[in-house]
Amino acid sequence: MCGIVGYIGNREATPILLSGLKRLEYRGYDSAGLALLEDLPRAVSTNGHSSSLINSTRLVIEKCKGKVTDLETLSARSPHHSTIGIGHTRWATHGIPSDTNSHPHTDQQERLAIIHNGIVENYSHIKDRLLARGHTFRSETDTEVLAHLIGEFYAEKQNLTEAVRLALNEVVGAYGIAVVAADSPNEIVCARKGSPLVIGVGNDNDYFIASDAAAIIAHTRQVIYLSDNEMATVSRSGIKTRTISNIEITKQVEVVEMELEAIEKGGFDHFMLKEIHEQPQTITDAMRGRVIEEEGNIVLGGLQNHLDALRQAKRLIITACGTSFHAGLIGKYMIEQYARVPVEIEYASEFRYRNPIVNDDDVMFGISQSGETADTLAAMREGKRKGALALGIVNVVGSTIARESDGGVYIHAGPEIGVASTKAFTSQLTVLSLLTIMLGRMRHLSVVDGRSMIRELLEVPEKAQSILDDTESKIEEMAQIFKDAANFLYLGRGYNYPVALEGALKLKEISYIHAEGYPAAEMKHGPIALIDENMPVVVVAPQDDVYEKVLSNIQEVRARKGHVIAIATEGDEQIKKLAEQVIFIPQTLPLFTPILSVIPLQLLSYYIATARGCNVDQPRNLAKSVTVE
Ligand code: M6R
Repeated sequence: MCGIVGYIGNREATPILLSGLKRLEYRGYDSAGLALLEDLPRAVSTNGHSSSLINSTRLVIEKCKGKVTDLETLSARSPHHSTIGIGHTRWATHGIPSDTNSHPHTDQQERLAIIHNGIVENYSHIKDRLLARGHTFRSETDTEVLAHLIGEFYAEKQNLTEAVRLALNEVVGAYGIAVVAADSPNEIVCARKGSPLVIGVGNDNDYFIASDAAAIIAHTRQVIYLSDNEMATVSRSGIKTRTISNIEITKQVEVVEMELEAIEKGGFDHFMLKEIHEQPQTITDAMRGRVIEEEGNIVLGGLQNHLDALRQAKRLIITACGTSFHAGLIGKYMIEQYARVPVEIEYASEFRYRNPIVNDDDVMFGISQSGETADTLAAMREGKRKGALALGIVNVVGSTIARESDGGVYIHAGPEIGVASTKAFTSQLTVLSLLTIMLGRMRHLSVVDGRSMIRELLEVPEKAQSILDDTESKIEEMAQIFKDAANFLYLGRGYNYPVALEGALKLKEISYIHAEGYPAAEMKHGPIALIDENMPVVVVAPQDDVYEKVLSNIQEVRARKGHVIAIATEGDEQIKKLAEQVIFIPQTLPLFTPILSVIPLQLLSYYIATARGCNVDQPRNLAKSVTVE
């Protein structure tokens, strides 16, 4: 989704802004732009005969539809020297991707420029008012309306911070913004509500602004996170923070732990492939320091203050979106089987608006890689408002969901840059496995069973590595066979039904092939009508409790000439006779199978997408973190 970068200091701003924007490309975007405040020496006549040079500042805007490299080319055509500027990558919400709709946007007088993540929900109301006052608009965006509104207040107050503050008091919606003005050349004003914003404190009186710390950690690790309804005026001499209701506040400087190498490709062609290959390590990292094998138990630091609530909970509610939702669905199966607590799972976007029943003794888990997904955040807030304990299962440290939750568990997968989530999914499943054992041990699970589950789980990273080692080249070849299919069906049962959903989501996200995931037995209730000799059907069929049933489903596909690609357990001779293609995965306990069975599906999507020439790391129309509802 949209990205923000800002810089003020003593160095040339353009390269800092462009490299920051490149670090944000993974979030998904369709256009990019910069606003710079350029110092121009200007000759003024002093006594009618002689003249002297004074500095005046000019607002320069460069923006275009397309990639940051297009913006770089545009910018190189006529370089501007500036030590203060803001940059943006836009993911279209209001108005098509176009040069005009790209950010930054300016006010009526073109004195100031703004970049904005989020949505101004009441923009048409404000726009009507401004139109009546003679304003004219170039773009179709809500952001330009906000620029004009700030401009109105700026003309009146001659103070940029105050102008931004007053305008934001009229805004309904979500924003992370940064604003510069030609006649306030020594400050950037930024603010947040519902869309993350971080300010980096450099070593040399220089400051950075970003919607994601990844954009600035090459320069500094000292950061201030703005919270909702807070704003900052950032100048070369420091940062002043206040709320948008004008109460001055003091913010803590925190240290970001993220390593630069972790956000680089490390020799792989794409971040997605790198992240698929990181999984043996990231699964291990999700367990690190949390397992007490001898006691058959688990310690999750961020839940220690809530053990009574978890022990007494009559019901758990899991809420999430996309891939995180699929992890949650597997979590429901695991927890209900081993801890015998009812678990409701719901898409966050549904939960937040349907007036759900929430009891005081419910415990809610929000699962989110980014920790910024607007629907998940809103669903968590709604659950909290209604009395539930709200806990997060989150990857990004310091993200909004992490900070707003009553407690929670980090999955420790490291930065996930590829838009299609891979390693975060298996880390979420690992944490849900730990949670299952912990909740089970609070209830009916014996120490012996806890121990044997832990032993199995500890072997999963090595098994994940063997899948990568043994299956990747075969999957790459298979991708050549199936890359031109128009549709795919994914089937699975029990723990592997959500894996089928996830496999289908991965394929459609990055290859643009239509794919559906189904519980295998549901096929005969409708989707079977689609099966013919052109339909590849991926069946996740490990040897578990429902294995024989899945074999029958495979027979049903074959009888209609569908092409079966099976994900099966090593040593399964029977399935070789039924399926056209088989990818083997090592045996494990059924509840841990999804951590392994999803890996071949990730690879299959990746190789099909690259065979079709798709941009796997930045698929069209998709954003890494969906901060609008
Ligand atoms: O950051 P989150 O886990 O909250 O994101 C949720 C979904 O937007 C995300 O999983 C999305 O479906 C991915 N593109 C999946 O690959």
